[in-house]
Amino acid sequence: MLITLLEKELRRAVSAVLPDVEKPDVRVQPCQNPEFGDYQTNSLMSLAKARGLNPRQLACDVKDRLSVQDWCESVEVAGPGFLNFRLRPEAVIHLIATALKGDHLFFTTQSPAQRVVIDFSSPNVAKPMHVGHIRSTILGDCLARVYRLLGHQVITDNHIGDWGTQFGKLIVGWKEQLDTEALERDPLAEMDRLYKDVHQRCENDPALLEQARQELVKLQQGDPENLEIWRRMTSYSQDRFAQLYKRLGVKFDFSLGESFYQPHLEGVVQELLDRGIAQYSEGAVVVFFEDHPELAGQPAIIRKRDGGFNYATTDLATLAYRLENWKPGEIVYVTDGRQQLHFKQVFEIFRRWHPEARIKLTHVWFGAILGEDGRPFKTRSGETVKLSDLLEEAKERAYGVVSEKNPELGESRKQKIAECVGIGAIKYADLLPNRQSDYIFSWDRMLSLNGNTAPYLLYAYTRIRSIFRKLREVDPNASLKVQVDPAKARLAAQEEWVLAKQLLNFGFVLKAVAEDYRPNYLCNYLYDLAGQFAKFYETCPVLKASEEEREVRLALCELTGRVLKLGLETLGIETIERM
Ligand code: ARG
Repeated sequence: MLITLLEKELRRAVSAVLPDVEKPDVRVQPCQNPEFGDYQTNSLMSLAKARGLNPRQLACDVKDRLSVQDWCESVEVAGPGFLNFRLRPEAVIHLIATALKGDHLFFTTQSPAQRVVIDFSSPNVAKPMHVGHIRSTILGDCLARVYRLLGHQVITDNHIGDWGTQFGKLIVGWKEQLDTEALERDPLAEMDRLYKDVHQRCENDPALLEQARQELVKLQQGDPENLEIWRRMTSYSQDRFAQLYKRLGVKFDFSLGESFYQPHLEGVVQELLDRGIAQYSEGAVVVFFEDHPELAGQPAIIRKRDGGFNYATTDLATLAYRLENWKPGEIVYVTDGRQQLHFKQVFEIFRRWHPEARIKLTHVWFGAILGEDGRPFKTRSGETVKLSDLLEEAKERAYGVVSEKNPELGESRKQKIAECVGIGAIKYADLLPNRQSDYIFSWDRMLSLNGNTAPYLLYAYTRIRSIFRKLREVDPNASLKVQVDPAKARLAAQEEWVLAKQLLNFGFVLKAVAEDYRPNYLCNYLYDLAGQFAKFYETCPVLKASEEEREVRLALCELTGRVLKLGLETLGIETIERM
């Protein structure tokens, strides 16, 4: 909040010094080293450099025009041209008082608000969702929550893989050997079995492969029997996916699968041909990128020789549909890193096709999940790990942790807490690493109560809540509403001051997450906040403090609790009052 105000004032001062600079790009950020100040800008140096000015001189001139005395007790020019700001304690107290009243929680919504489409999760029909989809689901859901919190209009769309060549083999399997009982019990497992069986036999049986091809052609031509089988497979899968999403607390505004775009594909290819963007090459329709620095030599096929369409063709049709119907400012795609080339090609073709479209297209990609042996995460028998099994195991293990910590809790309470802690642990372990690096899946680490984990943060939150429960035991008349009197309150101890400033940075971090598509910033922020709270609580007694001290300390407890709760919820993690 203060950062936004400082940036605005800084922009004004820069324009006053350099009238020719329109909307100067200036950034203020928390100082790494508190010795230099609380906030800092290094933007003046690049502004000076671009204009051949002396950066220190520019910093001095801008400083002279700044009017920030309401928020800062000092502004200093430092080093080659930094400006360092030191906050006024009254300004911090004022923000604490207004936050307590519910006016804000240290962030402001961003303007202008954008409409953002987030394409994530997107599992494939007739296949169990695996841990690769979990990363997309958790990351995408978190980004959607961050954008919404910042006031943007978000449309979430699950681009389910419900059309494609796998259906030829699936239909062959379904017709010859469907086990209806197994289908009722675990539809995804049964469909997976059918697919694997036929797929494997096809390897040395060209006749069977041809049969699968025929079934696929029949499906594509609208054969009623095959269409009905396809519909049933899709609906079984979607029921299963819906159960998982419910458990994960993930919601979609749309689930327009690949099949939805089938009627558009022929038109897309024709248009690209007519515009000279695509061309025939050995019977296929291809887009070449010969003059492109990165994509040269890597053409994209949008219609195969046999007339079939590709993944890229569907994505082009999807993009055009979203642009026309939803008019977003940005589309964000969340998938694993192996799809980087695919999205580069799709985005480049789209730019040639719709050069007028002023839409930002972003591929937010992530690395793999590895087992503790450093190889792709698999079950002991070497199978890919199913998401449903993973969630069940997380709950069981968390149940163990909870029972050990708090044996006297009632059974249903324990179950509820185990569900929150288990799912929270998986989500957090997924969001914490830099998303582009691979990460090693470790039950022990993610469920530990010590360290940068969901259980640690959830527990930190319950400890804060318990302070308020105790407060009412000590003093039944204590007001439920924490308030501070800005005229009297003081942040006397160093630990109070550090904690208060960390609270103030919540908005800065949310904005950074949105700009870089990196929820790990928020994880680390919350972890630091919990650590600073622990230090504060160790050194500054709350319940036993004098009334004057107690007021501001309770305020810090209350606001840390609120930021932890909202922060965790923004990561998609539900908080609990006791653990
Ligand atoms: N179904 C795909 C997969 O499982 C992911 C789809 C991602 N979204 C997209 N618009 N291509 O790999």
